[in-house]
Amino acid sequence: MANKGTYYITTPIYYPSSNLHIGHTYCTVMADAMARFKRASGYDVRFLTGTDEHGQKIQTLADEKGVTPQEYVDNIVAGIKDLWKTMEISYDDFIRTTEDRHMRRVQQIFMKIYESGDIYKGHYEGLYCTPCESFWTESQLKDGKCPDCGRPVVKAKEEAYFFKLSKYSQKLLDLYDEHPEFLEPESRRNEMRSFIGQGLEDLCISRSTFDWGIPVPVDEKHVMYVWLDALSNYITALGYPEDNELYNKYWPADVHLVGKEIVRFHSVIWPAMLMSAGIPLPKKVLGHGWILLGGEKVSKSKAAKGMDVIDPVILIERYGVDALKYFLLREYTFGQDGAFTNEVLLKRLNFDLANDLGNLVSRTVSMVEKYCNGVVPKATTESEFDKDLRNIAVSARDKVEKEMDSFRFNMALEEIWIVIRRANKYIDETAPWVLAKDPLKKAELDTVMYNLAEALRVVSVLIHPFMHTTSAKIREQLGLNYEILWDDAVRFDMSEGNTVKKGDAIFPRLDIEKELKELSEIAAEIARKKQLQSVTDPVERAILESVPVEVKPDIDFSEFEKVDMKVGKIIKAERHPNADKLLVFKVKIGTEVRQIISGVAGSYTPEEMLGKNVIVVMNLKPRNLRGLESHGMIIYADSDDKVKYVTTEAEDGNGVH
Ligand code: MSP
Repeated sequence: MANKGTYYITTPIYYPSSNLHIGHTYCTVMADAMARFKRASGYDVRFLTGTDEHGQKIQTLADEKGVTPQEYVDNIVAGIKDLWKTMEISYDDFIRTTEDRHMRRVQQIFMKIYESGDIYKGHYEGLYCTPCESFWTESQLKDGKCPDCGRPVVKAKEEAYFFKLSKYSQKLLDLYDEHPEFLEPESRRNEMRSFIGQGLEDLCISRSTFDWGIPVPVDEKHVMYVWLDALSNYITALGYPEDNELYNKYWPADVHLVGKEIVRFHSVIWPAMLMSAGIPLPKKVLGHGWILLGGEKVSKSKAAKGMDVIDPVILIERYGVDALKYFLLREYTFGQDGAFTNEVLLKRLNFDLANDLGNLVSRTVSMVEKYCNGVVPKATTESEFDKDLRNIAVSARDKVEKEMDSFRFNMALEEIWIVIRRANKYIDETAPWVLAKDPLKKAELDTVMYNLAEALRVVSVLIHPFMHTTSAKIREQLGLNYEILWDDAVRFDMSEGNTVKKGDAIFPRLDIEKELKELSEIAAEIARKKQLQSVTDPVERAILESVPVEVKPDIDFSEFEKVDMKVGKIIKAERHPNADKLLVFKVKIGTEVRQIISGVAGSYTPEEMLGKNVIVVMNLKPRNLRGLESHGMIIYADSDDKVKYVTTEAEDGNGVH
């Protein structure tokens, strides 16, 4: 395949403050798919990721745990590397900002900027928490106090080094005008224009109140803080400025993939630093949106409150790596935020993977086995359906490439699924089971089998950058044991004579209700454990340590609002004539009397219930229970092996809020 040149793609380097969640994996999965796609289509790819390990926050977390910052980050970084291994992320290099190679080179980059006259010593002013030795901005404070320890802060001034960022305002605006492709999507470019338009301030790049950082080479009392350190990773990992072989080959980067909240650092500070040091700028900074949980950016603390599981390790254990990758790439539109819930995930997996792709594989392989002794036959006839399927299959590759070149991962996958859905429809249109009954239709049947095997082979090539394990499983079932080539996706002449072999379902169908229940139990358990970590009160601890209460998945308020609950008084109570477990009540609710039946004979006698105030769900559809109608429902609460009716002092007929 033609070598199309080099392609250098990076992810942000992650803070190893705690384990990563699904939001972090989103960016890395996109970068991985892009790297694999570019490799497949003939580029010499370099894919970099890593961790951003310095700064006050890490130092504080390490202190709290009673370990050194290095021990702290080593532990988390090992977990991050394991995660990327599990997720089969194909990075070429993993840079840690605590590595010597990085620290040394950052100091050299600092000196280049220093020597260009863009670094000066000044004073950093802010709100200072003396016990924590931390500076805060007004907006970071919690109720006007230190967000870490809750103690008062004082205005303070500290000596610090500054980078002359303000000098670069016009140059940055010119950059966006001359190279609009430098920063995308356009909405982010406009945001940055107006941010710069408000006037750029010089940037504080050192601190002297803590020491977990790279020493400032011209002043050992200071460490770098922290973006100069972090952003430089993209070139220090290539050896710059000591050993420039990789740097000369791969820099400038083709794309820095970053989340929207750090676009500013990458499209303002980073190019200004590079301009100052006389280094060429990256070709593109691309800002993606956030995965949201309950309307907010996914974060560990948010997860602890919800019912949704956002730990990628758990999701992978249950559904597999490719399912998670497919979901992340297909569900969200690049550049926009998108909601995550267990339900969206499960529906995607069932509809697209189990139904569309899974079915196509199992139907195709089974039919070739059944009708052709497992050997893909020769195609000798051609109908309109055949032509259409072939055209759609062989034209998909160019469409996928076009979408990928614009980072529209979801649309690239949609193009592949158009082929998959077309092939499934083709099975229904050609009805091979009917053809198989008529010996005169043998040639047509052979053509159908051939075309299905070919279409699926094309799919196996196209999905390879996104889900290579699934691609391999499909190819195994199709009996394709040669190296996969991207160009094979535009051919339709490769399957004749292959021996197929049925395997396990590549994506078993999920029972969504059951999965939702289990996932919410897992989420509740995670939340409970998390809460336990921070609770010291013995009574509260005892409650949290006892058997967890079973909780059903969250519902929206709009759903709950539909339930109409009123207070009623039981004016008559008797046993159901045909059922031991049921009691039949007449309940007065305002001016109405309803017959309501409850299965509580094991907990109450009719006499015990007579005269009680109860809460009634008014708008439950009437049901016939063993010959008697029950209209509405009385609310009870579980209490060990009995139930207890829920009561109130309110007058009957009143609504419940
Ligand atoms: N260390 C800095 C980046 C330095 S790059 C020179 C940092 N680290 S981070 O760990 O906080 O975030 C890393 C990336 O994860 C960011 O691009 C951020 O947008 C992304 N995400 C974190 N939560 C996310 C979601 N909920 N959704 C999508 N991406 C999210 O910032």
